Amino acid sequence: MTRKRVLSGIQSTADSLHLGNYLGAVRQWVALQNEYEVFYFIADLHTLTVETEPEVLRKRILATAAQLLAIGVDPKESAFFLQSHVPEHNQLGWVMECLTGFGEASRMTQFKDKSQKSGSDRTVVGLFTYPMLMAADILLYQADLVPVGEDQRQHLEITRDLAGRFNSRYGKTFQVPDAYILKSGSKIYDLQNPTAKMSKSSSSVAGIIEFMDAPEINAKKIKSAVTDTGREVVFDEKEKPGISNLLTIHSLLSGKPIPEIEREFAGKGYGDFKAEVAEVVVEFVRPIRAKALELLENEPALMAILHTGAAKARIVAESTLSRAYENLGLVR
Ligand code: TYM
Repeated sequence: MTRKRVLSGIQSTADSLHLGNYLGAVRQWVALQNEYEVFYFIADLHTLTVETEPEVLRKRILATAAQLLAIGVDPKESAFFLQSHVPEHNQLGWVMECLTGFGEASRMTQFKDKSQKSGSDRTVVGLFTYPMLMAADILLYQADLVPVGEDQRQHLEITRDLAGRFNSRYGKTFQVPDAYILKSGSKIYDLQNPTAKMSKSSSSVAGIIEFMDAPEINAKKIKSAVTDTGREVVFDEKEKPGISNLLTIHSLLSGKPIPEIEREFAGKGYGDFKAEVAEVVVEFVRPIRAKALELLENEPALMAILHTGAAKARIVAESTLSRAYENLGLVR
């Protein structure tokens, strides 16, 4: 029996992954890789929607790759690659653009938010067509499941719509993928603003736990996290978003159920609790950072892994694209 397929991607917009990326998505990448046939990639082309110095971008792509490997993405179990190494992504992306309504694309909330913030003259067209490239990323590999955080749900919806539309117009070509979004961790919040998501682009430095930061810095950030009125350590997302966020983080990293942590801190204050969360986070991140730094010392080895991954990915990508072209009526 053939194994079901899992696919996911991450942008290389920062020097470091943050805890939201890990708890919302990458943790699942690692968990799923033994059971499924998996395709994991760095969406370096999507990253071009944000203007970046070439040297900085180059460094970030490699740093992202090193961190994913350090977290446990296994290049032997997966096709682990860079989006820009597989040109079929852009080729199928164009097909997706020709299938998407202008109004439909205009309703994407991430596009609306980002373009409203910067104004239409400073918003690049790539931000508008972003979801269509993402749909191509997914559909090329006939993915069954796509592990992502909550913020990508709408992009998965449009991907499903586009797959269905193509299949009904041109005959069954694509697997219609399901989003794989777990309840816990699918939205990790900004430590300084616990009602907004932890984000590379909008969180303040103090609100975001970065894997490549020094342990002391991350410990300090947790200890200075905004908490709520009252002094009890209980999970209550409405009344206590700050404490609830820290409880989620602690529980997912330590493996302890939230009620057990609540019991441990009954009668103690926020200070003791935050000190323990800081320790859990720091001890979790420490070996990952060390491993990533070690991998970055050997750039040729890192590149070799990515090239092998792209070769694996292209076998599937080429075959899907060629079927899609044929079904569209393009002369082969
Ligand atoms: P990106 O690079 O913004 O984020 C990578 C993954 O991390 C998740 N995530 C979070 N999860 C929980 N809490 C948070 N605060 C948080 N912040 C980020 C994201 O949901 C994501 O799963 N468009 C994608 C990249 C992409 C992609 C794809 C993903 C391109 N093509 C195809 C899946 C399949 C993005 O910008 O993710």
